[in-house]
Amino acid sequence: MGRIFAVILWLSVLVNVIVAQKYTPKDNILLNCGASDPQSTDTDGRKWNSDVGSKFLKSSKGSSTAKAATQSPEVGEVPYLSARIFESNFTYSIAVAPGRKFVRLHFYPSSYSNLNSSNAIFSVTAGSFTLLSNFSATQTTEALNYEYLIKEYSVVVVGDSLSLTFSPSSNYTDSFAFVNGIEVLSMPDLYDNADGPTLVGGGLSFPIDNSTALEGLYRLNVGGNFIPPTQDTGLYRSWSDDTPYIFGAAGGTTSVIDPELNVTYKSLPEYTAPVDVYSTARFMTMDNKVNVNFNLSWVFAVDTGFTYLVRLHFCEIFANISKPNQVVFNIYLNNQTAFNAYDIIPLKMAMGFLMFRILW
Ligand SMILES: *[C@@H]1O[C@H](CO)[C@@H](O)[C@H](O)[C@H]1NC(C)=O
Ligand SMILES: *[C@@H]1O[C@H](CO)[C@@H](O)[C@H](O)[C@H]1NC(C)=O
Ligand SMILES: *[C@@H]1O[C@H](CO)[C@@H](O)[C@H](O)[C@H]1NC(C)=O
Ligand SMILES: *[C@@H]1O[C@H](CO)[C@@H](O)[C@H](O)[C@H]1NC(C)=O
Ligand SMILES: *[C@@H]1O[C@H](CO)[C@@H](O)[C@H](O)[C@H]1NC(C)=O
Ligand SMILES: *[C@@H]1O[C@H](CO)[C@@H](O)[C@H](O)[C@H]1NC(C)=O
Ligand SMILES: *[C@@H]1O[C@H](CO)[C@@H](O)[C@H](O)[C@H]1NC(C)=O
Ligand SMILES: *[C@@H]1O[C@H](CO)[C@@H](O)[C@H](O)[C@H]1NC(C)=O
Ligand SMILES: *[C@@H]1O[C@H](CO)[C@@H](O)[C@H](O)[C@H]1NC(C)=O
Repeated sequence: MGRIFAVILWLSVLVNVIVAQKYTPKDNILLNCGASDPQSTDTDGRKWNSDVGSKFLKSSKGSSTAKAATQSPEVGEVPYLSARIFESNFTYSIAVAPGRKFVRLHFYPSSYSNLNSSNAIFSVTAGSFTLLSNFSATQTTEALNYEYLIKEYSVVVVGDSLSLTFSPSSNYTDSFAFVNGIEVLSMPDLYDNADGPTLVGGGLSFPIDNSTALEGLYRLNVGGNFIPPTQDTGLYRSWSDDTPYIFGAAGGTTSVIDPELNVTYKSLPEYTAPVDVYSTARFMTMDNKVNVNFNLSWVFAVDTGFTYLVRLHFCEIFANISKPNQVVFNIYLNNQTAFNAYDIIPLKMAMGFLMFRILW
């Protein structure tokens, strides 16, 4: 089964006193790898436990702990300033309940114990899934101009523990692997759909089941601000501002929900997305003659050869839009029609999301 990458798009910003009911993950494990303090708190107030002496390390043989040689001002001390270093294959066995989990790996490329992170080329597997291969945190952060990296995956654990294996590449001498932080969180079945999401461009679609692993690539609060993990709905996802992804000069207009309206989840589980996501949006003008001359587009850099899952969240935020045929638009993914004449009012009771898959 091929790997699937989730490209996650969200329509919506700010304001509103209502707080969506939070999901409580059964497993909520935060490991501060190589840390000398048994427990420490990050800048968001989340508590991380050191992996040193933890039940997740059957033995620390084949690994060592180290402090980052440098600290960039943008990088939080927890979990980034300590790391566990692997000079040969090493497996964490993390006891969890069976089911789908978010696995987030945190990397801060620095020098550790005189090992230069430029030499850290490695792979990471979670059970039978390869999460990263021939991976260099240094090259990736340099290419993206980031100080540190968070790689997010969603995998199903069938038994009672998740095996996370770090393997230094055998193709390079002096290669090693490292990790600064590991998060493992239970998640609800966000992708549950009997027939699977619509495959754009036709062809056989297939459901997202236990054999499907996903990597989270982009998650945007469209028309809104960055939402940090602690302000998500208990799933600790982060939501970025969408402006860097707008294609071309036609960025439309952004707005927050009319004060007389409330975000009402009805049958949609409240953990689907925070109120902030649904209460902000980006839209075209109210003049159809102007709208036919441009598309509102977002562009994402992705790798070829994968299937991408796209979730689009919609919520009507204007009180004067309440009838069918007032706002109707086409949705294209990669220039292919994903939805013809989408009208949020009759289709989704003015609130919800659409899921598509696309081959690229
Ligand atoms: C690590 O190696 C890279 C590439 O060889 C080099 O540019 C960099 O200066 C080295 N960093 C340190 C701290 O030695
Ligand atoms: C591994 O990564 C290096 C550097 O990015 C690249 O030159 C090389 O072709 C990659 N090897 C494989 C097998 O993908
Ligand atoms: C998927 O995995 C869960 C958790 O291990 C299990 O309870 C469920 O039966 C599995 N579903 C299928 C169709 O195998
Ligand atoms: C280490 O892991 C890699 C990738 O999973 C595997 O190809 C290799 O055989 C393993 N090496 C040893 C010594 O087990
Ligand atoms: C090592 O290089 C070979 C040949 O380029 C490639 O097939 C293999 O995937 C590489 N292994 C790793 C662990 O990157
Ligand atoms: C919105 O929520 C507020 C606070 O709960 C409530 O007072 C108000 O009546 C609600 N408005 C609508 C239109 O449901
Ligand atoms: C709906 O209200 C917004 C402001 O809340 C206004 O900009 C827009 O023109 C109105 N649209 C229609 C169709 O009346
Ligand atoms: C979509 O169409 C535009 C305009 O024809 C073209 O410039 C662009 O390369 C196309 N994009 C893709 C992904 O095919
Ligand atoms: C909008 O995008 C679609 C799909 O790529 C294309 O067919 C259409 O010509 C575009 N419209 C404008 C006005 O650029």
